[in-house]
Amino acid sequence: MQRPSPPLLDMRGIRVTFGGFVANDGVDLAVDAGEIHALLGENGAGKSTLMRVLAGLLVPAAGEVRIAGDIEPLGSAHEAMRLGIGMVHQHFMLVPTLTVAENVCLGLSSTGRFIPDLKTAAAKIRDLAATYGLDIDPNARIADLSIAGQQRVEILKALYRGARILVLDEPTAVLTPQEAEGLFRILRALAAEGTAIIFISHKLNEVMALTDKVTVLRQGKVVATALTAETDARGLARMMVGAEIALPKIEDAPAPGVPAEAAVAILSVMDLTCRDARGLVRVDRVSLAVGAGEIVGVAGVDGNGQQELAEAIVGLSMVTSGRIILAGVDVTAAPIARRIGLGLAHIPEDRHRTALVEPMSIRDNIVLERIGDPPFSRGGWMRRDAVAGLAEKVMAAFDVRASGPLQSVGTLSGGNQQKVVLGRALSRDPRLVVAVQPARGLDVGATAFVHRQLLARRAAGAGVLLVSTELEEILALSDRIVVMFKGAIVGEMTRAAISVERLGLMMAGRAA
Ligand SMILES: Nc1ncnc2c1ncn2[C@@H]1O[C@H](COP(=O)(O)OP(=O)(O)OP(=O)(O)O)[C@@H](O)[C@H]1O
Ligand SMILES: [Mg+2]
Repeated sequence: MQRPSPPLLDMRGIRVTFGGFVANDGVDLAVDAGEIHALLGENGAGKSTLMRVLAGLLVPAAGEVRIAGDIEPLGSAHEAMRLGIGMVHQHFMLVPTLTVAENVCLGLSSTGRFIPDLKTAAAKIRDLAATYGLDIDPNARIADLSIAGQQRVEILKALYRGARILVLDEPTAVLTPQEAEGLFRILRALAAEGTAIIFISHKLNEVMALTDKVTVLRQGKVVATALTAETDARGLARMMVGAEIALPKIEDAPAPGVPAEAAVAILSVMDLTCRDARGLVRVDRVSLAVGAGEIVGVAGVDGNGQQELAEAIVGLSMVTSGRIILAGVDVTAAPIARRIGLGLAHIPEDRHRTALVEPMSIRDNIVLERIGDPPFSRGGWMRRDAVAGLAEKVMAAFDVRASGPLQSVGTLSGGNQQKVVLGRALSRDPRLVVAVQPARGLDVGATAFVHRQLLARRAAGAGVLLVSTELEEILALSDRIVVMFKGAIVGEMTRAAISVERLGLMMAGRAA
């Protein structure tokens, strides 16, 4: 009888500790060539940690990695690349000022074999892009690409280096449904050519649609390995959390203190137009109002001006014309601090770029915007007890899982970072919450938590502007939905009159 060939990737007994904390506890993971394998688990379960071991970025305290049966040395990123391990990280690692081709070649010359010639590289990039259906211009600057475009560059970078084991850490967290479909086509094409793919995602319907096998981690341990076809989304959620989870909906929430239709507008945007640095119109004569006790959902395919609208409202970008009235005050040209003083809270889309200072502690990030205010400072001195008290309160209320308030935010799992952002924004009892993709990268339980928090703000009488490309999220939480297309609002719907089909048409820019 023929012996079965060993799996392409075989990780055994991986153990990783940070101080006294065990992030991976005897983890086994085997993936065959041509297999798409889902790695699941709650925020902080240890998924990214395991993948960093595979990529040679972390040396485990115990365990071994075999590639096609051979035990390989660990702890060298270069060695991992040579073995054909390619990684698309949760946070892209591209240099924004360089071109696609320059980024792809970056670091290659240090192998000492050759200095890459950019023309040859560009040609090879075009070839690879064509083979796997990746839409990429080798000469484009990274800073000018969409997030989906940058992700394709990361995939291409791995392929360029000969990856045969490709790891994608939450690749769809930043994509629209259409873009995610495009990515799945690429991944299926790669698997058909024999690439082993490890796919990390919190979206269980994607896991069901795309993958062949699943491994579930809970608190650093493998709790299940199964064929995807032999399980279902509900079963997976139960394995991840160890309990049943229900996602909250507006119907289940307590009614707001002020009925939305009777409420005064907490936010009025009038005829707002915003141009970007190149003079292109990003927000096109938008008018909308958010009442106290009301959640207004802004739906739309990513890149249709939603982000620019949110940035103008919170004061992060300039307004070309029109007005923004917050709590009765014209804040069109007001600095951010003034808006925060009027009761604005912002949950930004990109927590790494705009929300968190990663080397700083959880405590300092939480108090960041308030450090000069009483009771946190007196006579120019920081009052440590008040600051520590706030940090502990927010961490407890928002279930931030960490070793303590002094752990640096950069070392938290993605979901816990988002809880810090959320806790900071919502713990001040805001009157208007501008939430942009608030559940991005969060697990099922944490998503339910965020949604419950937004509904609680609504019940407390705050207005919420919810910008999301996830239609499910918009539908579950909004009293009213507006749809943006090419910078303009192209339609509006109240909760009572929601039609998903009409919403879809409006999102595609077709009058409905
Ligand atoms: N450098 C570090 N120092 C201290 N703790 C760390 C470090 N890196 C990770 N951890 C901890 O290890 C645990 C696992 O983190 P990891 O990033 O692997 O989680 P994850 O499963 O990828 O979660 P998410 O779904 O939120 O991305 C977390 O509790 C995290 O705080
Ligand atoms: Mg992670």
